[in-house]
Amino acid sequence: MMKVGIIGGTGNIGEGLARRICLGEKYDVVIGSRDAAKACTAADGVVCELKDRKCTSTTCSGTTNEDVCSADILIISLPFERVAETIDKIGKTVFENKIVITLINPMIRNPKEKYFLPDPPKEGSAALAIKTMLPESTKLIAAFNNVAANKWMELDEELDYSVAVCGDDEEAKTIVMDLVGSVSRLRPLDAGPLEMTKVVEGITPLVITIAMRNGLKDVGVHFS
Ligand SMILES: NC(=O)c1ccc[n+]([C@@H]2O[C@H](COP(=O)([O-])OP(=O)(O)OC[C@H]3O[C@@H](n4cnc5c(N)ncnc54)[C@H](OP(=O)(O)O)[C@@H]3O)[C@@H](O)[C@H]2O)c1
Repeated sequence: MMKVGIIGGTGNIGEGLARRICLGEKYDVVIGSRDAAKACTAADGVVCELKDRKCTSTTCSGTTNEDVCSADILIISLPFERVAETIDKIGKTVFENKIVITLINPMIRNPKEKYFLPDPPKEGSAALAIKTMLPESTKLIAAFNNVAANKWMELDEELDYSVAVCGDDEEAKTIVMDLVGSVSRLRPLDAGPLEMTKVVEGITPLVITIAMRNGLKDVGVHFS
């Protein structure tokens, strides 16, 4: 069975992602952290949840961000400002030829007027900036950007959304689309090259602003 490693997997998104991917019963997950003990505790929580839900075909473990990188597919689930230092610490060469997913959306909040705006780096998007931090052979794909954080952990609810998948390596994009399609009712859609993340990352602040200003709990993206 293929293994998905989540760098920064103890965070808001990471723990939900780990649960949802394992519940799809097609991929094992390894949660990464700066602190292996913290990752193991997070993974124990996922394993309990899997047991409760009678999911026996997949499993979850925890380790350091460095050791997570032996997984087949990596997801970087960190705040954007922490990505460069984390890649440096792990060592760039570890990412040679790897499929790496980014779901990162840099944004800023206007506290007075209650709205969020995209806050991309000079490269135009987080994904395009992360590409410059990784070896040329890394197959960087953007996916899962627009699924709201709270939805990942509400396991009794299906995730009935479209997921835009962007990347420059078509084979890697297909592999990531298969992963997306294994999660709940997510619908992976080819959204073009990595450059399209200039648009895709900006959708999340819009979704959050609409949810916040209209008192909506279930704002998501549906392309149909
Ligand atoms: N909010 C949304 O609706 C949404 C939706 C889609 C995508 N996203 C994106 O998902 C990404 C992750 O979001 P999140 O809310 O899960 O983030 P988070 O909880 O703030 O952080 C994720 C993990 O990053 C690690 N971390 C924190 N500071 C660090 C540092 N200085 N160096 C290395 N690692 C550090 C922590 O892991 P350890 O302490 O265990 O090392 C933490 O658990 C963000 O980039 C966000 O843009 C968010």
